[in-house]
Amino acid sequence: MDCKMKILISIMLSGLVSSAMAINTRTLAFNEAYLPLFGHHNVHRSDDDRHVRLLLDRSSGSGFISSDMYQHGLFSALIKLPSDYTAGVVVAFYTSNGDKFEKTHDELDFEFLGNIKGKEWRVQTNIYGNGSTSRGREERYLMPFNPTKEFHRYSILWTNETIIFYIDETPIREVRRTEAMGGDYPSKPMSLYATIWDASNWATSGGKYKVNYKYSPFTSEFHDLSLVGCRVDPIQMVPTSTENCTAANSDLMTTGLTVITPDKRKAMRAFREKFMTYSACYDTLRYPEKLPECEIVEAEKRRFKDSGHLKFSHHRRHRSSRARSSTATDPSKHSSM
Ligand SMILES: *[C@@H]1O[C@H](CO)[C@@H](O)[C@H](O)[C@H]1NC(C)=O
Ligand SMILES: *[C@@H]1O[C@H](CO)[C@@H](O)[C@H](O)[C@H]1NC(C)=O
Ligand SMILES: *[C@@H]1O[C@H](CO)[C@@H](O)[C@H](O)[C@H]1NC(C)=O
Repeated sequence: MDCKMKILISIMLSGLVSSAMAINTRTLAFNEAYLPLFGHHNVHRSDDDRHVRLLLDRSSGSGFISSDMYQHGLFSALIKLPSDYTAGVVVAFYTSNGDKFEKTHDELDFEFLGNIKGKEWRVQTNIYGNGSTSRGREERYLMPFNPTKEFHRYSILWTNETIIFYIDETPIREVRRTEAMGGDYPSKPMSLYATIWDASNWATSGGKYKVNYKYSPFTSEFHDLSLVGCRVDPIQMVPTSTENCTAANSDLMTTGLTVITPDKRKAMRAFREKFMTYSACYDTLRYPEKLPECEIVEAEKRRFKDSGHLKFSHHRRHRSSRARSSTATDPSKHSSM
């Protein structure tokens, strides 16, 4: 029985159990779908090839890439981030085609931004389409858990109609394609990337805190890698076969992740209300005319300044005694990008 067949059967079985589980069933061994990308000596694979550690040390960061490109898909992994002092360290889990389309690339990002000791990691999502690098669509969030303590699942869903970022079972951001977005909506085949790198220049408080290699190596762990999507021919950039694409699309539908149920939507709103600290949609200094896909939620908007940053955070207030005792400044005040 070939691998694809096995995957299909597990999808069918898992569909009977629960759609939420489906995502956990089609995990792949590294060599089934991924390749080391850079810093090869810092890409550590487990004996069973289902667990990858990416290291950043003085010599290099590291990364891996999917061996194929996909026209739409679900890109997902359980990820654990490096602990301790991680200022300047960035872990990224994203899709892109920047290697193939230098000037007109598409990209969907989860970027995890390290922090000084005692301050939490933040995560940023972003979207680029057809080289829209002058129109970043960043959102930043605190995390509801300590992402260095255990694995959590991060998923990027991309169809021709919607883009949804998930943390575990919770959708945290949805961008639906609108006509007005035009090419800004990613439309060309992309690869999946996972990387760890030294972003001393901007990651923590706009570069105020550099990577401190005294604490290296910084190790990010990935497992339960899963990937569902329509594979394209790497030269022609068209689906390898129409039937397979249809099959891949229906596989995507069976994940249960392409549609946000009312309950999930509630959970998404609650997450954003609690944890979002920046949104390009509310950044009227940068975008006097709002980005076309932005749905302005008045209750949400009231909490943000014209800079798109949160006016006030309960979260931080509770921690203010600790914040005062360190020399840290509020990183969200420094838009670094
Ligand atoms: C998206 O794809 C589905 C089938 O894969 C198709 O039925 C639908 O019309 C497409 N929507 C758009 C906006 O292209
Ligand atoms: C993408 O950008 C290129 C170059 O600017 C342009 O020719 C093309 O029409 C754009 N595609 C879409 C879908 O907007
Ligand atoms: C399409 O899927 C079948 C069954 O999984 C596989 O054997 C075949 O290689 C795929 N075709 C292409 C062109 O990828």
